[in-house]
Amino acid sequence: MEYKLRKAEPKDVPDILRLVKVDLLEDGFGDTPFYHCVIAELQPQSSDGLEVVGFAMYYFTYDPWVGKQLYLEDFFITQEYRGLGIGSHIMRHLSDLAMKTRCSGMMFVVAENNESSIQFYKRRGAEDLSQEEGWRLYRFDKESLVKMASAREE
Ligand SMILES: CC(C)(COP(=O)(O)OP(=O)(O)OC[C@H]1O[C@@H](n2cnc3c(N)ncnc32)[C@H](O)[C@@H]1OP(=O)(O)O)[C@@H](O)C(=O)NCCC(=O)NCCS
Repeated sequence: MEYKLRKAEPKDVPDILRLVKVDLLEDGFGDTPFYHCVIAELQPQSSDGLEVVGFAMYYFTYDPWVGKQLYLEDFFITQEYRGLGIGSHIMRHLSDLAMKTRCSGMMFVVAENNESSIQFYKRRGAEDLSQEEGWRLYRFDKESLVKMASAREE
């Protein structure tokens, strides 16, 4: 089997998306969806078709102390449609969903340099748990998981 490695070019983007799509389809729309998504769709003045201009990806988590929580994993509105209230509408939709499913809160992580989004969330009442409660974000990567899973008991 012969193959080569090369640096990706802009023309490779459709193939990169095709590869990502396989996981997205399996993980979100199988028997046990690992995520849910809400889509913002509109009809641009320049065309007859519908255009997806934003989305929020979320799932439900559980904390034994406070119960169900909605976890906002990703939230994005296309640049040219920002500032029009679509993001606020999605936040209202998710808040309503969280209330209907009896969640105690909505959790999310924001990069510390994403100041405009931090302000967007803060204006809506979000608390900075890293600052107020000293939480730090940790992760076991796949390598660590494989190591732990295969570790022999003493
Ligand atoms: C955060 C984000 C989803 C908000 O979506 P949005 O559709 O712009 O949201 P809205 O229009 O409802 O509100 C944007 C706020 O910024 C203000 N704003 C004004 N012009 C703006 C512009 N051109 N772009 C962004 N925000 C603008 C709005 O007045 C509004 O203020 P408010 O908080 O007082 O209501 C969007 O900015 C985005 O996709 N950012 C990049 C991706 C990102 O960082 N996501 C969050 C990851 S944690």
